[in-house]
Formats: sequence, structure tokens, C-alpha cells
Amino acid sequence: MRVLCIGDVFAEQGVNALLNILPSLKKKERVDLCIVNGENSSNENGIDRYSADRIFAAGADLITGGNHTLKLEEIYSTLDENPFMIRPANLKTDIGKGYALLDMGKYSVAVINLIGRIFLEKIEAENPFDTVDSYLERAKADNAKYIIVDFHAEATSEKRAMGFYLDGKVSAVFGTHTHVQTNDACVLPLGSGYITDLGMTGVKDSVLGVKKEIIVNRLKNKDMSKFYPATGDCIVSGAVFELDEKTGLCSSAKEIRIEL
Ligand SMILES: [Fe+2]
Ligand SMILES: [Fe+2]
Repeated sequence: MRVLCIGDVFAEQGVNALLNILPSLKKKERVDLCIVNGENSSNENGIDRYSADRIFAAGADLITGGNHTLKLEEIYSTLDENPFMIRPANLKTDIGKGYALLDMGKYSVAVINLIGRIFLEKIEAENPFDTVDSYLERAKADNAKYIIVDFHAEATSEKRAMGFYLDGKVSAVFGTHTHVQTNDACVLPLGSGYITDLGMTGVKDSVLGVKKEIIVNRLKNKDMSKFYPATGDCIVSGAVFELDEKTGLCSSAKEIRIEL
């Protein structure tokens, strides 16, 4: 099975880029399952029903989340009701859920979303290592052939540690949140696919999707002006994992980075 995972889609520009590229990319990469991190897909940051609908229309099978998922209240009922939209499982909240089970006919795929705790201190979250243990049990009880984890975290160390912690126990672990792709897609020693961060889907000449001048001004002059999404040419970032039907593990992993 081939899984395409797409990194943080940022604002309308990112969603438009996804709508543009995903149908042909899925064909080219012979994708069976497409997972998209959509936590920043609304122009108001967070995710709203409009951006979520458009990500699904582009061809996503499942939308994962992060620290911004709960920003906009209008998405709460969707998070509760739509089995294909999840948020980090270890977030201390009653809204939505952090686990999805996708029925692919011949087999099923469990997807677990987690959030890190390093440099994300404002977010109230349980220990992601403990949380993932309980969800691995659940995936086992659900008889999932493949298990995929989106670890939404800031620190590369925390993400690599999670990768090795889950090596051999899951099909693949990918990091999201930093909006900058790492070039370390690989198969870990015990067979799990891994990348520290998928990167961003949004405007290329930006700071994490935001208009670059606003961020420079904030960092240089402490100007706290509102953030606006950048405009211009986009990149679509992610990774493809090839999963082995016999073992449920990963046989190859590679980065995807397309400049539009
Ligand atoms: Fe993000
Ligand atoms: Fe994030």
C-alpha cells in the first residue's frame, strides 16, 4: 500500500495548491491512502468547514490536526461527528478524537494523531508516549493491518525520539507543525517509515505561510501586527511511504516537494 502524507496546509493559498496538484500527484505516486494535516488551512488559522471540505474535495481521505485545530469553534461539531477528521489524541479536551480507523476493504488502517510537549508549553497535553501506547492497543484490538502516526511537534529531538520509540510497532511515523521539510525520510532499523517533518503546503516565499514582512517586523521591532497569509507561488510538501502487506511495515520512504 502506498500512503501519501501532506504537511500543514496553510490558508486558502495552500488549499488551492492542494486542489491543483493532489489529483495528478496521487495518480503519479499510485497512492492508495492520502492523509493531510489541515490544522492551519483556514485564513483565520485553525481549520474551518470550508477549508476542510476543500481538502476532502482535493482528494484527502483523512485530515489530521495540531495545536491550532481547536482555534475556531465552528469546526467542533465536525470534529465530533466526522470519523475522518482527527486532532491530537493527547490533547486535554473532550472535543473530537485522536484516532481514526479506515476501512480499505481488504484491510484497515489506524491513524493516531499526537502532539509534542517541547516548546508547546501553552498546549495542555498528556504524555504522548503514554498516550500512543494505549492507542496501539486499540489499533491491535481493531485488527488494523497498518498503523500510521502524525506527531505534531516543534522539537526535532522529540520527533526523532518518538520515531525510534515506535520503530517496529507502527507502519510509519511522520512529523508535522514546523512547516519546514526535513530531508530525513527513511525506513528506521526495525522497519517503520519515518520523516521528522513533512513541511508545509502554502506560499513558498513566506515565514511558515505568513507574509514575511510581518514576521521580520515582529522579530526585529516587536511589532505585534496581525498575521496575514502570504501570497505568491506555492509549494506542496509531504512524503510517500510504501507499506508491505506481509509485515505491515514500511519498505521505502521518500520526501515529496513540488513547487507550483
Ligand atoms: Fe501548522
Ligand atoms: Fe502546528
